[in-house]
Amino acid sequence: MKYTALKGIHDIFPPDIYIWKKVESVAEEVLSSYGFHEIRVPIIESTDIFIRSIGETTDIVEKEMYTFPDKAGRSITLRPEGTAPVVRSYIENHLYNMPSPQKFFYAGPMFRYERPQKGRFRQFYQIGAEAFGAAEPKLDAEIISMLKLFLERLSLKELNFEVNSIGCEMCRPDYKKALTAFLGDRTDALCPDCQRRHSHNPLRILDCKVNACIELRKGAPQVTNYLCKECKEHFGELLALLKLLNISHIINPNMVRGLDYYTRTTFEVTSEHLGAQKAVAAGGRYDRLVEEFGGPPTPAIGFAIGMERLVEILKTCQSELETPSPKIFFATIGRQADREGLSIAEKLRSKGIQVELGYGNASLKSQIRRADRLNADYVFIIGEDELKSGRIKWKKLKDASHGEIGIGEIESFSGLFQS
Ligand code: HAM
Repeated sequence: MKYTALKGIHDIFPPDIYIWKKVESVAEEVLSSYGFHEIRVPIIESTDIFIRSIGETTDIVEKEMYTFPDKAGRSITLRPEGTAPVVRSYIENHLYNMPSPQKFFYAGPMFRYERPQKGRFRQFYQIGAEAFGAAEPKLDAEIISMLKLFLERLSLKELNFEVNSIGCEMCRPDYKKALTAFLGDRTDALCPDCQRRHSHNPLRILDCKVNACIELRKGAPQVTNYLCKECKEHFGELLALLKLLNISHIINPNMVRGLDYYTRTTFEVTSEHLGAQKAVAAGGRYDRLVEEFGGPPTPAIGFAIGMERLVEILKTCQSELETPSPKIFFATIGRQADREGLSIAEKLRSKGIQVELGYGNASLKSQIRRADRLNADYVFIIGEDELKSGRIKWKKLKDASHGEIGIGEIESFSGLFQS
């Protein structure tokens, strides 16, 4: 094969595409019921936007961005995530002038130059949601509940909701100090990345998947013990609301997330049906980001769902793939019959009925075989005899029942099309 897709980048085609479409339509339905409206932001942005928001010392910015100069020498980056572009758009288009909270959702490809493996791609798709302008934990709880409803609508079970609070700019410095002190002079044992991050971004060490770092951080102080009064109250109220809404969850004090913009609430939904990359969806509050981007002080919260991982679970847990199949297959013998088949097919298609035709002068037998493979409901057979008599033979493939129908009756014989 001369050409292949780039490493870590994949095509999505039938039948899987129908799972994708179902997921997207359920997402739109559920998110709309919570007042989220779709926003479409560009796939390319100025590199600065991602450096400023995601953080200079994160894996994404340090290693994973597709960054290149455009023809005018500006540094452009293929979006590795959707939050920063939505924040940029929210400010640039003065969307903060509309009544708060403003809620948006988006769906589309993201790009990260990661080492490809199961559940980890270089181009992957997210459905994301971002809500601006409400600081209270009620919104955090609603967002988590919305995510739960969406996953339930897809009949997904056995998912774990993990929550944490990573504090704010007031209390996090104390925690960072405590963590740095805990690691003390043992930092030589950290992986090279964490050694580098130790001084300016020690929280990243909690996120590191390298065994040595996992070992070293055992017994480390927990961020939830360092929260200031306001952060503690916020987290306490969120936990109470999750209880009220019957959302079972675990508190994971090590969940700091791989992006620097978070404040207070962070959360992840994980599945044991996935391998090492088990987060299906993840998000959190980012109350400072709008202001840091030059907008008015605006609390915000959001999440993103990883489509590939979600589809993977749906494929392992649900056997039936709903692929649309033809209602009628016209098996035609001879040029005149071909024309008649085409002409009736076009009339039926204009009424929204899915119709398939035989091609390439195939024998009747091979046309019926193809109809079977396509899972067609009915085969209509048109040959010389049928053209002469004006009556077409039909066969229902599921139960082999059969009969005849006048050519002129097909369009109105809608009862036949109900499976
Ligand atoms: P994230 O945790 O980087 O957060 O990504 C969210 C989800 O995208 C992950 O839980 C995972 O399911 C999926 N994902 C991430 N990277 C890959 C990859 N390389 N291959 C396949 N799937 C992947 C964000 O992106 C934040 N913008 C979420 C957010 C929105 N926070 C606030 N608002």
